Amino acid sequence: MRQRPIGVFDSGLGGLTVLQALTDLLPDEDLLYLGDTARYPYGERSLAELERIAVAVAGHLVERGVKLLVVACNSATAAALPALRAAYHIPVVGVIEPGVRAAASASRTGRAVVIATRATVASGIYEDTAARLEAGVRLRSVACPGFVELVEAGRTSGPAVTAAVRDRLAPLLTARIDTLVLGCTHFPLLARPISEVVGRDVTLVSSADETAFEVRDLLQRVGWLREPGDQPAARRFLTTGDPVTFARLGSRFLGTPLRAVEPVTITELGDEGPAVPELGGAVARGGTRTERAAS
Ligand code: DGL
Repeated sequence: MRQRPIGVFDSGLGGLTVLQALTDLLPDEDLLYLGDTARYPYGERSLAELERIAVAVAGHLVERGVKLLVVACNSATAAALPALRAAYHIPVVGVIEPGVRAAASASRTGRAVVIATRATVASGIYEDTAARLEAGVRLRSVACPGFVELVEAGRTSGPAVTAAVRDRLAPLLTARIDTLVLGCTHFPLLARPISEVVGRDVTLVSSADETAFEVRDLLQRVGWLREPGDQPAARRFLTTGDPVTFARLGSRFLGTPLRAVEPVTITELGDEGPAVPELGGAVARGGTRTERAAS
């Protein structure tokens, strides 16, 4: 089990911010990343639809033999974490609890705002999680539609991007907060314009590092950390979108050439229709097959 890759997925390029934190903390681990670029923005979809999509995408990674799943997407975590944990018998780590913990340790005043997608905000998950964990921080979530599209188009800096960011964040500037939680994994890629708009005395927090620590602790507990072998750790990438664009933008965001990008179709992911119960059943059966193969 310990030599298997960690599976990571998101609606597109945003989850690379989490993948980078995993690489930094766990350089010996193989990583298999799936960017569902054909279907971003996840955050404009209903929670029910997102749950169905996330279960199918995760099922594909499980079929490919990952030992642990990282849901590197706040919207999918908000919509599907319990369903994913019920469908697959491997550890599943989301990004919301780590984000709340990061906010709690960053905020001195206990007043923070989360910027996220519409789906994440609609779910109320940040507020609920902060209350459940008794994190000592009061979070208010604000939707920032349009930010994900900027990142997926490779537009992460420049006057037009700063102006678009300012438009969305201007109402926040009157709130007395000391911490801004980047509650969408795409948003750290806009950290510069966001920081320019909210000011440098507001600390920007992302869940990436905390998520990586959670993964490390979990793998350590179950004894599944990869042994460094003759082969260096590999990072492989799948996308439902255009692999050339994914490789080009991914290389830019990770600061290193991203070679192994493979296309995968939505049909291959086993997500062909909107019938939630049918798909849930099919994917759950896939999970069982993989468990048998793994044992
Ligand atoms: N990066 C994802 C998130 O953290 C999804 C963004 C989107 O596709 O809307 O919510």
